Amino acid sequence: MINPHGNKLTDKVLPEKEKIRIESEFQSMLKLEVNNEVIEDLYNIAHGVFSPLEGFMVEEDVQSIIKNDRLTNDLAWTIPITFDVNDDTAKGYSEGDDIALTNSEGKIIAVLHLEQIYKHEKKAIAESCFQTLDKDHPGVEKVLNSNDNLFAGKIDLVNTFIKDFKEYTFYPQQTRALFKKKGWKTVVGFQTRNVPHLGHEYVQKTALTMVDGLFVNPIIGKKKTNDFTDPVILGSYNVLMDNYYRKDRTMMGILRTRMRYGGPKEAIFHSIMRKNFGCSHFIVGRDHAGVGSYYGPFDAHAIFDKFPELEIKPICFRSFFKCDKCGGVVNDYTCPHDGTEYQKMISGRKIRKMIVDKQLDGLTEYMRPEVAEYLLNQKELFVK
Ligand code: ADX
Repeated sequence: MINPHGNKLTDKVLPEKEKIRIESEFQSMLKLEVNNEVIEDLYNIAHGVFSPLEGFMVEEDVQSIIKNDRLTNDLAWTIPITFDVNDDTAKGYSEGDDIALTNSEGKIIAVLHLEQIYKHEKKAIAESCFQTLDKDHPGVEKVLNSNDNLFAGKIDLVNTFIKDFKEYTFYPQQTRALFKKKGWKTVVGFQTRNVPHLGHEYVQKTALTMVDGLFVNPIIGKKKTNDFTDPVILGSYNVLMDNYYRKDRTMMGILRTRMRYGGPKEAIFHSIMRKNFGCSHFIVGRDHAGVGSYYGPFDAHAIFDKFPELEIKPICFRSFFKCDKCGGVVNDYTCPHDGTEYQKMISGRKIRKMIVDKQLDGLTEYMRPEVAEYLLNQKELFVK
Protein backbone atom coordinates (compact mmCIF):
# COMPACT_ATOMS: atom_id res chain seq x y z
CA MET A 1 0.00 0.00 0.00
CA ILE A 2 1.11 3.57 -0.69
CA ASN A 3 3.11 5.19 2.12
CA PRO A 4 1.59 8.12 4.00
CA HIS A 5 2.85 11.59 3.09
CA GLY A 6 6.31 11.93 4.65
CA ASN A 7 6.30 8.13 5.13
CA LYS A 8 4.90 8.10 8.66
CA LEU A 9 1.26 8.12 9.68
CA THR A 10 0.90 10.61 12.51
CA ASP A 11 -0.70 9.24 15.66
CA LYS A 12 -1.11 11.91 18.33
CA VAL A 13 -4.00 10.23 20.12
CA LEU A 14 -2.98 9.86 23.75
CA PRO A 15 -2.91 6.30 25.11
CA GLU A 16 -5.55 5.59 27.76
CA LYS A 17 -3.16 5.94 30.73
CA GLU A 18 -1.90 9.35 29.58
CA LYS A 19 -5.43 10.47 28.86
CA ILE A 20 -6.50 9.65 32.42
CA ARG A 21 -3.49 11.55 33.78
CA ILE A 22 -4.25 14.66 31.69
CA GLU A 23 -7.92 14.56 32.67
CA SER A 24 -6.94 14.42 36.34
CA GLU A 25 -4.75 17.51 35.87
CA PHE A 26 -7.31 19.32 33.72
CA GLN A 27 -8.72 21.59 36.48
CA SER A 28 -5.35 23.20 37.13
CA MET A 29 -4.33 23.54 33.46
CA LEU A 30 -4.37 26.66 31.30
CA LYS A 31 -7.50 26.43 29.16
CA LEU A 32 -8.74 27.81 25.86
CA GLU A 33 -12.12 27.13 24.26
CA VAL A 34 -11.89 26.50 20.51
CA ASN A 35 -14.50 26.33 17.75
CA ASN A 36 -15.55 23.32 15.68
CA GLU A 37 -13.18 24.07 12.83
CA VAL A 38 -10.19 24.00 15.17
CA ILE A 39 -11.52 20.79 16.68
CA GLU A 40 -11.78 19.22 13.21
CA ASP A 41 -8.17 20.21 12.56
CA LEU A 42 -7.15 18.65 15.88
CA TYR A 43 -8.84 15.36 14.96
CA ASN A 44 -7.28 15.38 11.49
CA ILE A 45 -3.79 16.07 12.83
CA ALA A 46 -4.01 13.52 15.63
CA HIS A 47 -5.58 10.75 13.54
CA GLY A 48 -3.11 11.15 10.68
CA VAL A 49 -5.30 12.74 7.98
CA PHE A 50 -2.80 15.62 7.81
CA SER A 51 0.32 13.38 8.14
CA PRO A 52 3.15 14.22 8.62
CA LEU A 53 1.91 17.27 10.58
CA GLU A 54 1.93 16.78 14.35
CA GLY A 55 0.45 20.13 15.25
CA PHE A 56 -0.34 23.63 14.01
CA MET A 57 2.32 24.99 11.70
CA VAL A 58 5.21 27.17 12.84
CA GLU A 59 6.04 30.40 10.99
CA GLU A 60 8.92 28.87 9.01
CA ASP A 61 6.64 26.24 7.49
CA VAL A 62 3.96 28.78 6.59
CA GLN A 63 6.57 31.03 4.95
CA SER A 64 7.98 28.07 3.09
CA ILE A 65 4.51 27.17 1.75
CA ILE A 66 3.96 30.76 0.64
CA LYS A 67 7.28 30.76 -1.25
CA ASN A 68 7.53 27.18 -2.54
CA ASP A 69 4.34 25.20 -1.85
CA ARG A 70 6.50 23.03 0.40
CA LEU A 71 7.21 22.58 4.10
CA THR A 72 10.71 23.50 5.33
CA ASN A 73 11.66 19.81 4.96
CA ASP A 74 10.80 20.14 1.24
CA LEU A 75 7.68 18.00 1.43
CA ALA A 76 4.83 19.18 -0.81
CA TRP A 77 2.18 21.17 1.09
CA THR A 78 -0.01 23.94 -0.33
CA ILE A 79 -2.56 25.00 2.33
CA PRO A 80 -1.26 26.19 5.74
CA ILE A 81 -2.80 24.44 8.76
CA THR A 82 -2.85 27.17 11.38
CA PHE A 83 -4.67 28.20 14.53
CA ASP A 84 -5.60 31.89 14.63
CA VAL A 85 -6.38 33.78 17.86
CA ASN A 86 -7.26 37.38 18.65
CA ASP A 87 -4.97 39.86 20.45
CA ASP A 88 -6.54 39.33 23.89
CA THR A 89 -6.12 35.56 23.66
CA ALA A 90 -2.56 35.89 22.36
CA LYS A 91 -1.66 38.08 25.35
CA GLY A 92 -2.98 35.49 27.79
CA TYR A 93 -0.49 32.75 26.88
CA SER A 94 3.27 32.36 26.44
CA GLU A 95 5.49 30.20 24.29
CA GLY A 96 6.22 27.02 26.26
CA ASP A 97 2.73 26.80 27.80
CA ASP A 98 0.73 23.58 27.66
CA ILE A 99 -2.86 24.60 26.94
CA ALA A 100 -5.95 22.43 27.38
CA LEU A 101 -8.10 23.13 24.29
CA THR A 102 -11.76 22.65 25.13
CA ASN A 103 -15.03 22.48 23.23
CA SER A 104 -18.06 24.70 23.91
CA GLU A 105 -19.16 22.31 26.68
CA GLY A 106 -15.87 22.81 28.49
CA LYS A 107 -14.66 19.28 27.73
CA ILE A 108 -10.99 18.82 26.93
CA ILE A 109 -10.20 17.85 23.35
CA ALA A 110 -6.44 18.21 23.16
CA VAL A 111 -3.33 19.69 24.69
CA LEU A 112 -1.46 22.25 22.62
CA HIS A 113 2.24 22.53 23.41
CA LEU A 114 2.56 26.18 22.46
CA GLU A 115 5.82 26.57 20.62
CA GLN A 116 5.36 29.88 18.80
CA ILE A 117 3.06 32.88 18.80
CA TYR A 118 3.47 34.82 15.55
CA LYS A 119 1.80 37.31 13.27
CA HIS A 120 -0.82 35.97 10.88
CA GLU A 121 0.33 37.07 7.42
CA LYS A 122 -3.21 36.91 6.08
CA LYS A 123 -2.68 38.61 2.75
CA ALA A 124 0.38 36.55 1.86
CA ILE A 125 -1.37 33.33 2.84
CA ALA A 126 -4.56 34.20 0.94
CA GLU A 127 -2.64 35.17 -2.17
CA SER A 128 -0.59 31.99 -2.07
CA CYS A 129 -3.56 29.66 -1.55
CA PHE A 130 -6.08 31.37 -3.78
CA GLN A 131 -3.96 33.33 -6.25
CA THR A 132 -6.23 36.32 -5.75
CA LEU A 133 -7.02 38.86 -3.04
CA ASP A 134 -10.56 39.43 -4.28
CA LYS A 135 -12.78 39.56 -1.19
CA ASP A 136 -15.63 37.96 -3.14
CA HIS A 137 -13.64 34.73 -3.17
CA PRO A 138 -14.98 32.75 -0.16
CA GLY A 139 -11.53 31.44 0.78
CA VAL A 140 -9.92 34.88 0.63
CA GLU A 141 -12.74 36.40 2.63
CA LYS A 142 -12.36 33.78 5.33
CA VAL A 143 -8.61 34.23 5.68
CA LEU A 144 -8.76 38.04 5.64
CA ASN A 145 -11.49 38.02 8.30
CA SER A 146 -9.59 35.68 10.61
CA ASN A 147 -7.59 36.68 13.70
CA ASP A 148 -4.24 38.49 13.62
CA ASN A 149 -2.12 36.01 15.61
CA LEU A 150 -1.21 32.38 15.13
CA PHE A 151 -0.50 29.77 17.78
CA ALA A 152 1.81 26.97 16.67
CA GLY A 153 2.91 23.75 18.28
CA LYS A 154 2.47 20.01 18.51
CA ILE A 155 -0.70 18.58 19.98
CA ASP A 156 -1.86 15.55 21.90
CA LEU A 157 -5.44 14.48 21.43
CA VAL A 158 -7.30 13.57 24.61
CA ASN A 159 -10.87 13.02 23.37
CA THR A 160 -12.65 12.51 20.05
CA PHE A 161 -16.33 13.40 20.34
CA ILE A 162 -18.15 12.52 17.12
CA LYS A 163 -21.92 12.98 17.14
CA ASP A 164 -23.01 12.87 13.51
CA PHE A 165 -22.24 10.58 10.56
CA LYS A 166 -20.45 8.10 12.82
CA GLU A 167 -20.98 5.22 10.41
CA TYR A 168 -19.07 7.11 7.70
CA THR A 169 -16.23 8.29 9.94
CA PHE A 170 -12.96 6.54 9.21
CA TYR A 171 -9.43 7.75 9.87
CA PRO A 172 -6.40 6.63 7.85
CA GLN A 173 -5.50 3.67 10.06
CA GLN A 174 -9.02 2.34 9.55
CA THR A 175 -9.30 3.01 5.81
CA ARG A 176 -5.91 1.40 5.26
CA ALA A 177 -7.04 -1.68 7.19
CA LEU A 178 -10.34 -1.78 5.28
CA PHE A 179 -8.70 -1.46 1.85
CA LYS A 180 -6.37 -4.28 2.80
CA LYS A 181 -9.22 -6.47 4.00
CA LYS A 182 -11.08 -5.90 0.73
CA GLY A 183 -7.94 -6.94 -1.17
CA TRP A 184 -7.66 -3.56 -2.91
CA LYS A 185 -4.03 -2.92 -3.83
CA THR A 186 -4.86 0.21 -5.80
CA VAL A 187 -7.60 2.59 -4.70
CA VAL A 188 -8.83 5.78 -6.32
CA GLY A 189 -10.04 8.56 -4.03
CA PHE A 190 -12.89 10.83 -5.09
CA GLN A 191 -13.32 14.25 -3.52
CA THR A 192 -16.72 15.90 -3.60
CA ARG A 193 -18.76 18.69 -2.08
CA ASN A 194 -21.81 18.04 -4.24
CA VAL A 195 -24.71 15.71 -4.86
CA PRO A 196 -23.86 13.22 -7.61
CA HIS A 197 -24.71 13.93 -11.24
CA LEU A 198 -23.84 11.74 -14.23
CA GLY A 199 -20.51 13.55 -14.74
CA HIS A 200 -19.41 12.57 -11.24
CA GLU A 201 -20.51 8.98 -11.74
CA TYR A 202 -18.74 8.82 -15.07
CA VAL A 203 -15.36 10.00 -13.75
CA GLN A 204 -15.62 7.63 -10.79
CA LYS A 205 -16.50 4.58 -12.86
CA THR A 206 -13.97 5.36 -15.57
CA ALA A 207 -11.28 5.63 -12.90
CA LEU A 208 -12.51 2.40 -11.30
CA THR A 209 -11.85 0.51 -14.53
CA MET A 210 -8.13 1.13 -13.89
CA VAL A 211 -7.85 0.28 -10.17
CA ASP A 212 -9.16 -2.21 -7.60
CA GLY A 213 -11.41 0.05 -5.53
CA LEU A 214 -13.16 3.42 -5.38
CA PHE A 215 -13.20 5.46 -2.18
CA VAL A 216 -15.96 8.08 -2.38
CA ASN A 217 -14.83 10.69 0.13
CA PRO A 218 -17.19 13.67 0.45
CA ILE A 219 -16.03 16.69 2.40
CA ILE A 220 -18.26 17.25 5.40
CA GLY A 221 -17.84 20.60 7.09
CA LYS A 222 -18.21 24.31 6.55
CA LYS A 223 -19.27 25.26 3.06
CA LYS A 224 -20.48 28.42 1.40
CA THR A 225 -24.10 29.54 1.12
CA ASN A 226 -26.05 27.59 -1.51
CA ASP A 227 -23.73 24.57 -1.46
CA PHE A 228 -25.62 21.36 -0.64
CA THR A 229 -25.96 20.43 3.04
CA ASP A 230 -23.93 17.52 4.39
CA PRO A 231 -26.86 15.13 5.08
CA VAL A 232 -28.17 15.65 1.56
CA ILE A 233 -24.77 14.95 -0.02
CA LEU A 234 -24.43 11.71 1.95
CA GLY A 235 -28.07 10.72 1.44
CA SER A 236 -27.91 11.20 -2.32
CA TYR A 237 -24.68 9.19 -2.54
CA ASN A 238 -26.29 6.40 -0.56
CA VAL A 239 -29.15 6.27 -3.05
CA LEU A 240 -26.75 6.29 -6.00
CA MET A 241 -24.44 3.65 -4.56
CA ASP A 242 -27.26 1.34 -3.46
CA ASN A 243 -28.66 1.31 -6.97
CA TYR A 244 -25.67 1.59 -9.28
CA TYR A 245 -22.38 0.70 -7.53
CA ARG A 246 -20.76 -2.62 -6.74
CA LYS A 247 -20.46 -3.06 -2.99
CA ASP A 248 -17.23 -5.07 -3.27
CA ARG A 249 -15.49 -2.35 -5.27
CA THR A 250 -16.71 0.88 -3.69
CA MET A 251 -16.85 2.38 -0.25
CA MET A 252 -17.87 5.75 1.14
CA GLY A 253 -16.26 7.54 4.07
CA ILE A 254 -16.25 11.21 4.95
CA LEU A 255 -13.50 13.75 5.33
CA ARG A 256 -14.28 16.29 8.01
CA THR A 257 -12.71 19.54 6.97
CA ARG A 258 -13.87 22.78 5.45
CA MET A 259 -13.82 23.51 1.73
CA ARG A 260 -11.29 26.22 0.94
CA TYR A 261 -12.29 26.74 -2.73
CA GLY A 262 -8.59 26.97 -3.58
CA GLY A 263 -8.75 25.22 -6.98
CA PRO A 264 -5.28 23.89 -7.91
CA LYS A 265 -3.62 24.45 -4.51
CA GLU A 266 -6.50 22.70 -2.81
CA ALA A 267 -6.29 19.82 -5.29
CA ILE A 268 -2.77 19.09 -4.04
CA PHE A 269 -3.94 19.30 -0.42
CA HIS A 270 -6.91 17.04 -1.25
CA SER A 271 -4.64 14.46 -2.86
CA ILE A 272 -2.24 14.45 0.13
CA MET A 273 -5.11 13.68 2.52
CA ARG A 274 -6.32 10.85 0.27
CA LYS A 275 -2.77 9.47 0.07
CA ASN A 276 -2.85 9.34 3.88
CA PHE A 277 -6.13 7.42 3.71
CA GLY A 278 -4.28 4.87 1.56
CA CYS A 279 -5.40 5.88 -1.94
CA SER A 280 -2.91 5.22 -4.72
CA HIS A 281 -4.83 7.41 -7.20
CA PHE A 282 -6.92 10.55 -7.00
CA ILE A 283 -9.56 11.92 -9.37
CA VAL A 284 -9.09 15.49 -10.57
CA GLY A 285 -11.79 16.62 -12.96
CA ARG A 286 -13.02 19.90 -14.31
CA ASP A 287 -12.44 22.95 -12.09
CA HIS A 288 -11.56 20.82 -9.07
CA ALA A 289 -12.33 22.70 -5.81
CA GLY A 290 -12.95 25.82 -7.87
CA VAL A 291 -15.41 28.63 -7.37
CA GLY A 292 -16.71 31.24 -9.82
CA SER A 293 -14.17 31.72 -12.59
CA TYR A 294 -11.05 32.24 -10.50
CA TYR A 295 -9.28 29.19 -11.96
CA GLY A 296 -9.00 27.71 -15.42
CA PRO A 297 -10.97 24.44 -15.80
CA PHE A 298 -7.75 22.38 -15.91
CA ASP A 299 -5.40 24.39 -13.68
CA ALA A 300 -5.81 21.69 -11.04
CA HIS A 301 -4.42 19.13 -13.53
CA ALA A 302 -1.37 21.19 -14.46
CA ILE A 303 -0.24 21.84 -10.87
CA PHE A 304 0.54 18.13 -10.36
CA ASP A 305 3.49 18.53 -12.78
CA LYS A 306 5.18 20.58 -10.06
CA PHE A 307 5.09 17.62 -7.65
CA PRO A 308 6.36 14.56 -9.54
CA GLU A 309 7.41 12.92 -6.26
CA LEU A 310 3.90 12.97 -4.75
CA GLU A 311 3.38 9.19 -5.28
CA ILE A 312 -0.42 9.39 -5.29
CA LYS A 313 -1.25 9.57 -8.99
CA PRO A 314 -3.79 12.08 -10.25
CA ILE A 315 -6.26 10.67 -12.77
CA CYS A 316 -7.18 13.82 -14.66
CA PHE A 317 -10.44 14.11 -16.53
CA ARG A 318 -11.65 16.68 -19.00
CA SER A 319 -15.23 17.99 -18.66
CA PHE A 320 -17.87 15.37 -19.17
CA PHE A 321 -21.26 16.33 -20.58
CA LYS A 322 -24.31 14.71 -22.17
CA CYS A 323 -24.70 14.17 -25.89
CA ASP A 324 -28.10 13.00 -27.10
CA LYS A 325 -26.73 11.95 -30.48
CA CYS A 326 -23.96 9.85 -28.91
CA GLY A 327 -26.49 8.65 -26.36
CA GLY A 328 -24.51 9.15 -23.20
CA VAL A 329 -21.87 10.98 -21.24
CA VAL A 330 -19.00 12.20 -23.42
CA ASN A 331 -16.19 14.74 -23.49
CA ASP A 332 -14.69 17.07 -26.05
CA TYR A 333 -12.22 14.39 -27.19
CA THR A 334 -14.84 11.71 -27.72
CA CYS A 335 -17.91 13.50 -29.10
CA PRO A 336 -17.85 15.03 -32.59
CA HIS A 337 -21.10 17.01 -32.27
CA ASP A 338 -19.62 20.40 -31.41
CA GLY A 339 -21.97 23.35 -31.69
CA THR A 340 -25.16 21.23 -31.95
CA GLU A 341 -28.09 21.12 -29.56
CA TYR A 342 -27.26 17.46 -28.87
CA GLN A 343 -24.50 18.50 -26.48
CA LYS A 344 -25.70 19.49 -22.99
CA MET A 345 -23.37 20.79 -20.30
CA ILE A 346 -23.85 19.31 -16.82
CA SER A 347 -23.80 22.31 -14.56
CA GLY A 348 -24.31 22.48 -10.82
CA ARG A 349 -26.16 25.77 -11.18
CA LYS A 350 -28.60 24.26 -13.71
CA ILE A 351 -29.20 21.27 -11.43
CA ARG A 352 -29.80 23.45 -8.36
CA LYS A 353 -32.37 25.50 -10.26
CA MET A 354 -34.20 22.39 -11.47
CA ILE A 355 -34.33 21.07 -7.91
CA VAL A 356 -35.80 24.36 -6.66
CA ASP A 357 -38.31 24.35 -9.56
CA LYS A 358 -39.10 20.66 -8.88
CA GLN A 359 -38.39 19.65 -12.50
CA LEU A 360 -38.02 15.89 -12.20
CA ASP A 361 -37.91 15.31 -15.98
CA GLY A 362 -35.18 17.88 -16.50
CA LEU A 363 -33.16 16.53 -13.60
CA THR A 364 -33.19 12.95 -14.85
CA GLU A 365 -31.30 14.15 -17.95
CA TYR A 366 -28.33 14.82 -15.69
CA MET A 367 -28.72 12.49 -12.74
CA ARG A 368 -30.10 9.07 -11.90
CA PRO A 369 -33.89 9.11 -11.37
CA GLU A 370 -33.56 7.67 -7.85
CA VAL A 371 -31.16 10.48 -6.91
CA ALA A 372 -33.40 13.14 -8.48
CA GLU A 373 -36.45 11.82 -6.62
CA TYR A 374 -34.55 11.68 -3.37
CA LEU A 375 -33.46 15.30 -3.80
CA LEU A 376 -36.96 16.52 -4.60
CA ASN A 377 -38.13 15.02 -1.30
CA GLN A 378 -35.55 16.80 0.88
CA LYS A 379 -36.26 19.95 2.87
CA GLU A 380 -32.89 21.32 4.01
CA LEU A 381 -31.11 21.15 0.68
CA PHE A 382 -28.82 24.15 0.72
CA VAL A 383 -26.44 25.79 3.16
CA LYS A 384 -28.04 29.03 4.38
S1 ADX B 1 -15.30 19.95 -5.82
O1 ADX B 1 -15.29 21.33 -5.33
O2 ADX B 1 -15.30 18.97 -4.76
O3 ADX B 1 -14.22 19.74 -6.82
P1 ADX B 1 -17.52 18.58 -7.09
O4 ADX B 1 -18.00 17.83 -5.91
O5 ADX B 1 -18.56 19.03 -8.05
O6 ADX B 1 -16.69 19.86 -6.62
O7 ADX B 1 -16.50 17.71 -7.94
C1 ADX B 1 -15.89 16.56 -7.48
C2 ADX B 1 -14.87 16.07 -8.52
O8 ADX B 1 -15.55 15.77 -9.76
C3 ADX B 1 -13.79 17.09 -8.88
O9 ADX B 1 -12.59 16.42 -9.16
C4 ADX B 1 -14.35 17.74 -10.13
O10 ADX B 1 -13.33 18.30 -10.91
C5 ADX B 1 -15.00 16.54 -10.82
N1 ADX B 1 -16.10 16.90 -11.75
C6 ADX B 1 -17.31 17.43 -11.41
N2 ADX B 1 -18.08 17.57 -12.52
C7 ADX B 1 -17.36 17.11 -13.56
C8 ADX B 1 -17.61 16.97 -14.97
N3 ADX B 1 -18.77 17.33 -15.52
N4 ADX B 1 -16.62 16.48 -15.75
C9 ADX B 1 -15.44 16.10 -15.21
N5 ADX B 1 -15.15 16.20 -13.90
C10 ADX B 1 -16.09 16.68 -13.08
